[in-house]
Amino acid sequence: MKRSLVRGTVFVLLIMLGGVGYWGIEALLKGSDQPVTILPEKVADYVHAIIEANRTVYATNVVDKMQEKGIVEAAEHWRQENALPLPAQFLIETGRLVAESGVGIKYRLASLWPIYVWNNAQSDFERKGLEAVAKNPDRPFTGFVRIGRERLFQAVYADRAVAHACAECHNRHPNSPRRDYKLNDVMGGIVITIPVGP
Ligand code: HEC
Repeated sequence: MKRSLVRGTVFVLLIMLGGVGYWGIEALLKGSDQPVTILPEKVADYVHAIIEANRTVYATNVVDKMQEKGIVEAAEHWRQENALPLPAQFLIETGRLVAESGVGIKYRLASLWPIYVWNNAQSDFERKGLEAVAKNPDRPFTGFVRIGRERLFQAVYADRAVAHACAECHNRHPNSPRRDYKLNDVMGGIVITIPVGP
């Protein structure tokens, strides 16, 4: 009697274990089949991290080093002067190449106080975004916009004067509409655009 009770219990336990095991394996298999969705906010964060890292490495490990060693300077009219592009121009140029590649993602550097008009806000959304990050630089301003038949996700990240040189150069540039930048001020923003289907 006791023995059969033990056997019965073991039998039931085994069936339960098997059930749990089967459920687990099925869940695992299903998991691998499920389409993965990544929020556009995440994609924008990824792209933004790469843009920032590239600009920083270019500015510190290329431009600063070349200038220190007296090899070549970075200058605004780098094409004509056979110089290195400024870090801002490095970002703008890589953005141009990415746009030309046709993958769909775009990015640019913009400001409400731009040295050049082409870096001004190009839409209501961008203007709102630049205003928002100027007030609250720790969070990107995001949203969906429609251009023609295309639906796009856009994110504006604050671009701050992380070094004195940022503020100084903009303050003394003859074209700059603003001359009171200080260290850490928000000078503009990086606008990232991601197509999200019709
Ligand atoms: C030596 C001068 C110089 C320095 C240093 C410099 N910039 Fe600029 N920046 C420029 C010029 C020139 C442009 C316009 C480039 C163009 O459109 O070809 C520009 C463009 C920008 C723009 C786009 C809006 C605009 O003004 O046209 C932002 C935002 C910006 N810079 C932020 C920064 C930040 C942040 C730093 C420091 C990390 C920095 N800049 C350092 C010269 C400079």
